[in-house]
Amino acid sequence: MCGIVGYIGMKDARDIILSGLEQLEYRGYDSAGIALFHQQEIKIFKDKGRVSHLRDICDFSFKTGLGIGHTRWATHGEPNHKNSHPHISNSGRFVIVHNGVIENYKKLKIEYLSNYEFYSDTDTEVIVNLIEYFSKSYSGREAIRRTLNELEGSYALLILDKEEPEQLYIAKNKTPLIVGAGESGITIASDVIPLAGHCTTYTSLNDKVFGVVQSKSFQLFDYLGNDLSVQMKKFNINNEDFEKGDFDHFMLKEIHEQPSIIRHLVQEYFDNEKIAIPKKILDCIKSSTKINLVACGTSMYASYMAKYYFEKLCNIPSEVFVASELVYSTPLIVDKPCFIYLSQSGETADSIAVMKKFLAKGFPSIAITNSPNSTMAELATHHLNIFAGKEIAVASTKAYIAQVVTCAILAKALSGQKTNLKNNLNKTAMAIEKILEEKIIIKNLAKQIFTASDVFYIGRGIDYWVCLEAALKLKEISYIHTEAFSSGELKHGSIALIDKDVPVLAICTQEGTNSIVRSNLTETIARGAKGIVIAMESLSDPTDDIILPDVAHYLTPLVSAVVCQLLAYYVAVLKGNDVDKPKNLAKSVTVE
Ligand code: G6P
Repeated sequence: MCGIVGYIGMKDARDIILSGLEQLEYRGYDSAGIALFHQQEIKIFKDKGRVSHLRDICDFSFKTGLGIGHTRWATHGEPNHKNSHPHISNSGRFVIVHNGVIENYKKLKIEYLSNYEFYSDTDTEVIVNLIEYFSKSYSGREAIRRTLNELEGSYALLILDKEEPEQLYIAKNKTPLIVGAGESGITIASDVIPLAGHCTTYTSLNDKVFGVVQSKSFQLFDYLGNDLSVQMKKFNINNEDFEKGDFDHFMLKEIHEQPSIIRHLVQEYFDNEKIAIPKKILDCIKSSTKINLVACGTSMYASYMAKYYFEKLCNIPSEVFVASELVYSTPLIVDKPCFIYLSQSGETADSIAVMKKFLAKGFPSIAITNSPNSTMAELATHHLNIFAGKEIAVASTKAYIAQVVTCAILAKALSGQKTNLKNNLNKTAMAIEKILEEKIIIKNLAKQIFTASDVFYIGRGIDYWVCLEAALKLKEISYIHTEAFSSGELKHGSIALIDKDVPVLAICTQEGTNSIVRSNLTETIARGAKGIVIAMESLSDPTDDIILPDVAHYLTPLVSAVVCQLLAYYVAVLKGNDVDKPKNLAKSVTVE
């Protein structure tokens, strides 16, 4: 989704903003722009395309310590020059960048701005002109406050006022905005990454807060204009966390980090052989009669594994809900459910909307995220960290593995039984290392797949849950149409899609379903498909394509998923795709 970076201080604002926007590229975007204050003028450079293109069109002949920048992921209007941010008010006094969606922009346009010209298709241009409208009767700050009180929807805003060259304005509602302070200035961004190297302390803004930022200090206010106190946290994130190192892509680096993440989770959540999940979290779940898991995308597929663990390892009925559906269609709620939200970013708008809805109804919520300072972590009754480290590639890999492992540990803790999980997880980490050492086999398999226009994954039980994630991974970065089927369902319709040479990948890791999945695969081969088998060593045939090292039967998704991640990666590389920044996708989806 859109990324925002602003800077005011002694350093070169253009440099900090352009580098910051590059660091936010992982969020997904289609246009980029920057506004720089220079000698009472605000100079704007923007266009469709990458930040590298913005660098090419940006004027480097002057230095300035104040500017705002933006990467846009189109919501209102196609990606082009006129819709790129920053946007400017009719008189040229105010300049704005915006991340989010204004729901009532049409109404505001009719109500206040009939005399204004609009040059883009965006909702953002309404905000900047509304500020100008109010500025005819009020100060810049008051005009901004009045505008914010009119807006409905989500936004993180940075605003420049040509009449105030010593400051910039910020505002936030439902979309993240972080303010970081360092010795030489203040940096504002949608994520902590652009703050690294410039800030020693930082704070995340709460909803419906706006502020005035100067080079050495900033003040925050509520929408009535009351001063708010600010709690700064120590900034201790290194630049290396955001670098690829020797890997060609962040995705490959993140896939390789998975064994150490599993070991880290063991360290965090085990005290010798005993599981050490905070008691308040266990009590919260134990006092409920059902677990409702809520998530989107890859986190939703990790939730299916969590459901399996909660039901099989500790007998708690569990159900998985797609957040975007649950916002609008409330299921029948019986007894005493507890809501568990899985989210890598902790900023996914659909999941946040559900969390707010059910918190308001009095249901406890547990956020399982990779971002302890995120909106979801802060809103939830309880938070559990998955300790995956910053995930940069848009296609999630290590966060999935970390979510599944965290939920397995949580389920074992809830069961209260003696467990061999610690050993089993260490063994699984070694199994993944073996897969990574032999990844050439998967690279070769990718050559059989990358020219296909359709690919199918099939499996049963937990293998089917992995198929769903595997299919998502492949379509996200290879752009090949990929579907996951429960292998038993194929013959009830979808087998009609099987054609000559369509790759059908069967995941076979469970003793109880191995032979039936293989016979379902044979049915597709009989209709021309190219059958590919990914099987556990103990269940394998000599002709199988990928053999997975044996691990505990309930942890097999951790190894089969890694194979599917690597396969998606190599297919995307063979296709020449931008693996870390696939088209149309965003890492953190902050609009509903
Ligand atoms: C986006 C990302 C996916 C991610 C999903 C949910 O669609 O591209 O990789 O799984 O959002 O994100 P979350 O941060 O809530 O896990």
